[in-house]
Amino acid sequence: MTPAALHCIVLAAGQGTRMKSALPKVLHRIGGKPMLGHVLDAVYGAGAQACHVVHGHAGEQVQAWVRQQGGDRRVHWAEQSQQLGTGHAVLQAMPQVPDEAVVLVAYGDVPLIRSETLAELAAAGGDGLAIATVQLADPRGYGRVLRDAAGQVRGIIEENDASEAERAIREANAGLLAAPARLLRPWLNGLGNDNRKGEYYLTDVVASAVREGRPVRTVPVANPEEVEGVNDRVQLARQERVYQRRQAETLMREGVGFADPSRFELRGTLTVGRDVFIDVGAVIEGDCSFADGVSIGPYCVLKDVRLGAHSQVLAHSVLEGLDAGQHCRIGPFARVRPGSRFADEVHIGNFVEVKKSELGGGTKAGHLAYLGDAMVGARVNISAGVITCNYDGVNKHTTVIGDDAFIGTDSQLVAPVTVERNAYIAAGSTITKTAPADALTICRAREQKSIAGWAKPKKR
Ligand code: UD1
Ligand code: CA
Repeated sequence: MTPAALHCIVLAAGQGTRMKSALPKVLHRIGGKPMLGHVLDAVYGAGAQACHVVHGHAGEQVQAWVRQQGGDRRVHWAEQSQQLGTGHAVLQAMPQVPDEAVVLVAYGDVPLIRSETLAELAAAGGDGLAIATVQLADPRGYGRVLRDAAGQVRGIIEENDASEAERAIREANAGLLAAPARLLRPWLNGLGNDNRKGEYYLTDVVASAVREGRPVRTVPVANPEEVEGVNDRVQLARQERVYQRRQAETLMREGVGFADPSRFELRGTLTVGRDVFIDVGAVIEGDCSFADGVSIGPYCVLKDVRLGAHSQVLAHSVLEGLDAGQHCRIGPFARVRPGSRFADEVHIGNFVEVKKSELGGGTKAGHLAYLGDAMVGARVNISAGVITCNYDGVNKHTTVIGDDAFIGTDSQLVAPVTVERNAYIAAGSTITKTAPADALTICRAREQKSIAGWAKPKKR
């Protein structure tokens, strides 16, 4: 017999009032990705064939984000126009779920749930009801698991409806459950809203299963952090820390050294070689990859950056969209913008901005320069104050600099323009025409002269 298809229902219709935000709660980000994105990843990671997202409050924004992600992510939408409770929310998606499927319910505001836990729960809910439970020192706000003298689950009682004695129970409902669709459907249809909140509680299906004599299994979640919900920004910040610690730990196991793993932010993916070192305050975004021996100095921001072996990024550099070779040295205070490629042993120093430019092997720009839309050869020296004038106010133009050229201090290269190989540009030149190979080109306003006996102006 082939295993039943797994259909996951993600609840994301709640308003998230306590976030005090124009953004729907499930679009608030953890590690740079909306909470809903984390949940969808976990759901597909658990082998779901279909995923139904129940949306309501600001549903268009949620749908727009999912659409933007594109790809093969198949999401079915179910609208819950009035938030009448978690049971009512699940019911909205049920018409799209076939009877043969196993249903797994997850919450859009419980972002750090792992695929393994979801898969375990789905397996436990193959022929009855399975709920994920967690032992909490402080279970406030959670539904409590009620058991009889024999330890069998009898039901879940919500905090608002619980007695003093029931509130003392530490075993909480994590909020995830799984059951065959053909069993779950009638349980959901039979839900009432006779409780303190006047809502249709999903948790009441536990009592329905018990009444029918169906097996109710609990899947314990060992680490409460995994199933902690986000209702306000304090909890959001807490889950962000949990997430970042997980990522830093994964990277350390892959061989990355951190000056302080608690002062590291990964908002995307990072692929690493051996002996990568990351100093404090690094923010890594998008898709980055650091080869063996790469080191990142303090307070750097890197997005979509690939660094070859033993390249170094020094303090306070901001790099985006860079593909760099080996043994490069970038910073301190360097700024690289998208579309840039460095060959091996390139050096970019302080207050140098590079935009959409290619730099050949061994080329150096040590200080205070702007290279935009430039094709620079190998072993070129770009001195302090060199500017490529790439923009005429309407269009961008290219500057081409050949191998072994030397661009003197405070020169402007007015693009489109070419400096040929081994050319030498004298300091303070404004270059508007081709500077030929192997020659000194000088273009200054006038020759230097000295006027003898010149007196400083006096204050009137
Ligand atoms: C719920 C559980 C509780 C559990 C806790 C774990 C119920 C009745 N209670 O409580 O037992 O311990 O989660 O975090 O299920 N939602 C909708 N439509 C609605 C209501 C809610 O889509 O009409 C969504 C919310 O956006 C949220 C999720 O369902 O993603 C949970 O709802 P919430 O109101 O936060 O439930 P809790 O009170 O936390
Ligand atoms: Ca909640």
